[in-house]
Parts: sequence; structure tokens; C-alpha cells
Amino acid sequence: MKELVQKLLEEHHDFSSQTCKIEQSIEKTVEFARISEVFVSLREALIEHMLVEESEIFPEVSRRGLFTERVSEIMQQHLDITAALENMRFALHGKNMNALKSAFDELSAVMKLHFPAEESEVFSLVSS
Ligand SMILES: [Fe+2]
Ligand SMILES: [Fe+2]
Repeated sequence: MKELVQKLLEEHHDFSSQTCKIEQSIEKTVEFARISEVFVSLREALIEHMLVEESEIFPEVSRRGLFTERVSEIMQQHLDITAALENMRFALHGKNMNALKSAFDELSAVMKLHFPAEESEVFSLVSS
């Protein structure tokens, strides 16, 4: 469990740097095709990451009898992340810069809430 948590923490770090890259590309209005490349790999990795958490981490919190309303709230932020990713995917597909910007802001905001919450309020429950 400790090693898995370590891997997930490193992934949070990678996701944050990939998000920064996308943010810079949006600011510089880089072509959609290039933003798409970074986005596609971020999206795949993030979806896989959430699946691992949902199948390994949250059930372990539950097995330890530590699953609370707050933990559930943090887990449900995955739905917001998924929704923002879908909005970004549509915006990129439709080459709609305004929609892309707002979907990106949505994703970025929920990631900024979710990662620290998960790290301090969920991973800490299963790290020992
Ligand atoms: Fe998560
Ligand atoms: Fe995570």
C-alpha cells in the first residue's frame, strides 16, 4: 500500500506539470493539434489513476473502517475531474478556444482541490 501511495503521489506531481504545459499552450494559443497531444496522454493517465484509486485506495479506507462523509466527498471529485476532461475533449475536437479555456479552468480548479485533499485526508489513512 505504501508503494502504491508513493506512485500515486508522483503521478499527482506529473499531472500538475502536464497541466502547466497545457495552460502555457492555451495562453500562447498554440495549435489545437499540439494541445491535443498533451491532453490525450494526460487524460488517459488521469483516468487510469482514478480507477486505481477507486479500486485500491478507497476500498482499503473502507476496510479499515475509516470511510467518512468527507472521504466520500473527495472520492466524488473524480466525477468533476471526468466531466472537465470530457468538456476539454469536446472543445478540442470542435476547435473551440473559449470552451477549451473554460473547461481547462474547471479541470485545473478541481485538481487543485482534489490532489491536496486526497494526499492529506485519504492517503494518510492507508499509508501505515
Ligand atoms: Fe483521486
Ligand atoms: Fe489521485
